[in-house]
Amino acid sequence: MTLRFATDPENAIPLYVISTDALDEWLKGRSDSERNWITATGFRASTGSAMLVPGNNGVVAFAVAGFGDAKSRSRGRFPLATAAKSLPKGTYHLAKDLPYGDIETEALGWLLSGYAFDRYHKNSGSKARLVCPDGVDATKVEAIANAEALTRDLINTPASDMGPDALEAAARDLAAAFNSTISVIHGDDLLEQNFPMIHAVGRASDQAPRLIEMRWGQKGPKLTLVGKGVCFDTGGLNLKPGASMGLMKKDMGGAATVLGLARMIMALNLPIQLRVLIPAVENAVSSNAFRPGDILDSRKGLTVEINNTDAEGRLVLADALALADEENPDLIISMATLTGAARVAVGPDLSPYYTDDEGISSALITAGTEISDPVWRMPFWEPYEKMIEPGIADLDNAPKGGFAGSITAALFLRRFVDNPRYTHFDIYGWNPAAAPARPKGGVGMGARALLQALPKILEL
Ligand code: BES
Ligand code: ZN
Ligand code: ZN
Repeated sequence: MTLRFATDPENAIPLYVISTDALDEWLKGRSDSERNWITATGFRASTGSAMLVPGNNGVVAFAVAGFGDAKSRSRGRFPLATAAKSLPKGTYHLAKDLPYGDIETEALGWLLSGYAFDRYHKNSGSKARLVCPDGVDATKVEAIANAEALTRDLINTPASDMGPDALEAAARDLAAAFNSTISVIHGDDLLEQNFPMIHAVGRASDQAPRLIEMRWGQKGPKLTLVGKGVCFDTGGLNLKPGASMGLMKKDMGGAATVLGLARMIMALNLPIQLRVLIPAVENAVSSNAFRPGDILDSRKGLTVEINNTDAEGRLVLADALALADEENPDLIISMATLTGAARVAVGPDLSPYYTDDEGISSALITAGTEISDPVWRMPFWEPYEKMIEPGIADLDNAPKGGFAGSITAALFLRRFVDNPRYTHFDIYGWNPAAAPARPKGGVGMGARALLQALPKILEL
């Protein structure tokens, strides 16, 4: 599915987007028949209300959409997309500027309202199309929308069609589309090339564990993105109960999100030397699965005691992060559906992130607010370092008691990175309740905030 602005502006219906406080004033400027019609329908410009307004002989004169008030807008994102959903199939153009908000973000919301996951079942998003509004960079917004659609498709596709093989194929497709180089280390080669933890976590699956590496761009600062690619997380021998396992096709949400962000960066041709690393595995159950009590070697040389095979994401990421760090890039980002604790702490809306760098942190918060991809800072809390030290090995992958589970997971990852600008996102990757431009299902988190913040963080 390709998300695009309308290409037939000559047929477009003028659309007035009106906030609640501006409705009465705006109505004064309409003809009697228009005002009477709009009033008779009960239209109060609340968010999500939208309709066509007839002119002579019932021919459509224009459309009107509510933009609500500040309070209702602060309770959700993409108010313009809410309107798109309520309008009938057709092409629309904004007849006047939006009363509030960032027009580029709202235009993106409209494009995303056209997204639906249709691989297995006929399904479609909003059929109302928008002419790219003045001042909006169509190429940029379309690039972001289609990158987000890629992320969603990858997460929504179940493990039966999105195992490590398919995730690798998706990365190869993306690499081919943007002329980037890609190489993949499979199976026992992981042992030979010193990625023992990626191998240990993924070896019980029929589909070999692997490390996918993509590179793109010749000039500019070096950015390395690392994404958790656990294509299905059964929990391993510490099997998850059914209710917790149900959604675990989304455990490659970090990989899907970094691939989406990579697509944005490449499509927009940012002056960055990009490297993407994805450890792709299935955390499966078999007689050769890694076990509780095992002590694993890692690429970095730290030994790790396995106290729960369900804390597998930090293991595969640790080896990939160690590799990322060896090159000393300007910035290393990891994205992962790493802990249930992050979900409990901030819920599905916010992207919790960790960084020791104040500049990166403030750039992310500002960017996330600007473009409706909210992020929330969490602490790399030093006093909890002792929680991840088991005594019998250098590190414990699953500290007892589960106190501060997202923080101890982040601290674990940080042990494998020397770069002080390392930034980690513990995302949920799933939208549990349909909202404007965000249907229920896989969703990219933090990628747009990062894209928006990169010029500042990397001084592009
Ligand atoms: N993939 C899960 C984390 C997860 C669960 C993310 C639910 C989003 C929603 C991860 O591999 C995991 O199972 N983590 C354990 C770690 C624990 C055993 C230390 C967790 O969070 O319970
Ligand atoms: Zn797990
Ligand atoms: Zn997992």
